[in-house]
Amino acid sequence: MIPTLEWTPQGVRFLDQTRLPLEEVYTLATSYQEVAEVIVTMVVRGAPAIGVAAAMGLALGVKTSSASTVAALAAEFEGMCRTLGETRPTAVNLFWAIERMKRVFDDQANRPGATVASVRDALIAEAQHMYDEDIAACRQMGAYGAALLPRLGGVLTHCNAGALATCGYGTALGVIRSAVERGHELHVFADETRPFLQGARLTAWELLHDHIPTTVLCDNMAASLMRQGKIHAVIVGADRIAANGDVANKIGTYGVAILAKEHGIPFYVAAPWSTIDLRTPSGDAIPIEQRAAREVTHHAGKQLTPYGVGIENPAFDVTPAQYVTAIITERGVLRPPYAESLLESAGAAAD
Ligand code: MRU
Repeated sequence: MIPTLEWTPQGVRFLDQTRLPLEEVYTLATSYQEVAEVIVTMVVRGAPAIGVAAAMGLALGVKTSSASTVAALAAEFEGMCRTLGETRPTAVNLFWAIERMKRVFDDQANRPGATVASVRDALIAEAQHMYDEDIAACRQMGAYGAALLPRLGGVLTHCNAGALATCGYGTALGVIRSAVERGHELHVFADETRPFLQGARLTAWELLHDHIPTTVLCDNMAASLMRQGKIHAVIVGADRIAANGDVANKIGTYGVAILAKEHGIPFYVAAPWSTIDLRTPSGDAIPIEQRAAREVTHHAGKQLTPYGVGIENPAFDVTPAQYVTAIITERGVLRPPYAESLLESAGAAAD
């Protein structure tokens, strides 16, 4: 298993994704502020991994706090939640994880005889539980989604929705892994994913690690390959799925979805339930993170664009639900109309 992130007695250990694929370097965050920094700088990235990293950051913040009463700890905990909640606005898993940790905090703090130690232990256990659940959800998505992929053919993916974006196995890449484990002969086409190059650096690295045949494409090559009949399915992850099935994912996903529809190729989204945001009615209401212009103007420290030119750098776009053939979750494969299938799935889990 690729060790994306890990709780250790010394702090939270991260595989530094800014250094891949050429260097496998680990960094240890020993405070919640350092975990926040690791998320902002994309040492760890990918919606499910961001959520679990934030949960571990909160557990770490409580563990390292010098508060001597539960009331003092509660005031500090509010600040920790705020700091971690300000890191990346689009991945709803971040807010899902923080809310879940807040519930555990409140529940523990309100128990008779609650102590700083009992609250701390409950938060550490919850963060570890979320880590384990995330891997189990990825494996379940893989089991549900594998049959949707061709027995033999090309599958295009955008960004990195793999082990590196989760606690292990991956969402979109988990479905690919699962299909390969079941005997499908797949060739993966990984969009390079400008400007941060998650496809070229991370998807390529982790699929080669698993000996899955992979070809990297520049982001402007997909249409041509689709027209040549080399791509039989597209599968991507998501940072947030609205109640109507609109999908926010890495910038460029929307264009790929339009191309897939035009060429009659199925377009699948794989995401755990923690990525579903039923409180957001449609993609129009999803906040889109804007990142620094330097990610576009520079590559490997070298300036590519002239001084003074305007730069856009939205990290995500929204693919309207009409382009999505199916959404694969750990609760099953959902089909349109998503406003209904998402609600039904939410209701079934609540029963
Ligand atoms: O900016 P990133 O690298 O965090 O963006 C990641 C993506 O867009 C992924 O596709 C998404 O988070 C799903 S990861 C399982």
